[in-house]
This record gives sequence, C-alpha cells and structure tokens, in this order.
Amino acid sequence: MKALPLLFENNRKWAFQISQNDPHFFAKLVRQQNPEYLWIGCSDSRVPANQIIGLLPGELFVHRNVANLVIHTDMNCLSVLQYAVEILKIKHIIVCGHYGCGGVRAAMESQPHGLIDNWLRHIRDIHQRRSVELARFPLEERINRLCELNVIEQVKNVGSTTIVQEAWQRGQRVTVHGWIYAISDGLLKDMNACISSMADLGKLEKR
Ligand code: CO
Repeated sequence: MKALPLLFENNRKWAFQISQNDPHFFAKLVRQQNPEYLWIGCSDSRVPANQIIGLLPGELFVHRNVANLVIHTDMNCLSVLQYAVEILKIKHIIVCGHYGCGGVRAAMESQPHGLIDNWLRHIRDIHQRRSVELARFPLEERINRLCELNVIEQVKNVGSTTIVQEAWQRGQRVTVHGWIYAISDGLLKDMNACISSMADLGKLEKR
C-alpha cells in the first residue's frame, strides 16, 4: 500500500481536472517550460506562489527559502537565478515577502534558535541598520515593517548579483519587483521597489 494515500488521491483528481480543461496540457508541458516570471518567496505554507497569482504549471519558476532571502553566496538561490535569467530568459523576477513572517519574527527575538540563527542573521543586520526607524513602531508593526524592508533589501541583492548585472550589460530586459503578501486577506502589495537597470538599483540603494 502506498504511503499518504490521500495525497495520491488528490493528485489523481488534480491531473484529471486539468486534462478535462485542456486534453493537451501535460503533453505541451513535456516539450518545454517557458515561464516569464521567477518567484523568490518564503517557504511558509500559507504563501503558495502559483495559486496566489493564478498561474499554471509551466508559468512560474520558483525558489523559496525561509524569509525569502537572496544571499550572495547561496549557490542554491544563485543557480536558480542563473538558470532563470540565462537559459529561460525570464523577464520578471518577483521577490515576495509576507506579513507576519516567522523567520523575520525569529530574527528579532533574543533567545537562540540554533542553526537557523546564522541564516536569520541577514535579517538581524537589516534590523540593526534600520533600528532608528523601526523603534518607532510597536512590536507587531515593527515585525511587519521589517518584513517590508527585507523585501526591498532582497530586491537590491538580486540586482547586485553578477547574473542580473551581466544581463543588464548585454541589454537583456530583466525587471526585479518587490512585493509583500498579506496572509490575512490574500492580497499582494507592490513595494514600489521595481528595478530594471543599474541606475534604478542606485536609486533604490539610497532608499
Ligand atoms: Co515567512
């Protein structure tokens, strides 16, 4: 007997439903993927990338980790980014954070959480750099503001990679967007941190 039978049952229903709507759907996907978007989001189970922006399999290339971080030495994230930009010729890279992010919250706590504190250190660094601004908010609002600031920092990090900078240098159109998602109502907010050139990156760095 298969383990987790409910999930296999769900899978059969899902595949059947898609084939009902479009009998050639899976056959087309086998031949190629041609997504226009790369999603860099949080691993949080409440932020399912494809569903919240209504995209089908094949339409969104996805990388997720705790607190949607883009770290300059993270070969996993950089490999996804390189494949997306250089091979798939993705046009838009969306960094999407979310309010109430557990990673951001943990980064603000004083008690230790083990290994992950090394990962979350990147968020603590942002917190430290913006401590004067953040101190004005009560705790819950401070977490949410840090979630927003984290998105903007990660947009800058994407724009600072060799991958995106080389793409811009050779004239490839790649735009990086910073969004934040509210679990409370399912809606996205644009952080107005859109960059598609070195000049845009320079302007965002000053923000
Ligand atoms: Co999160």
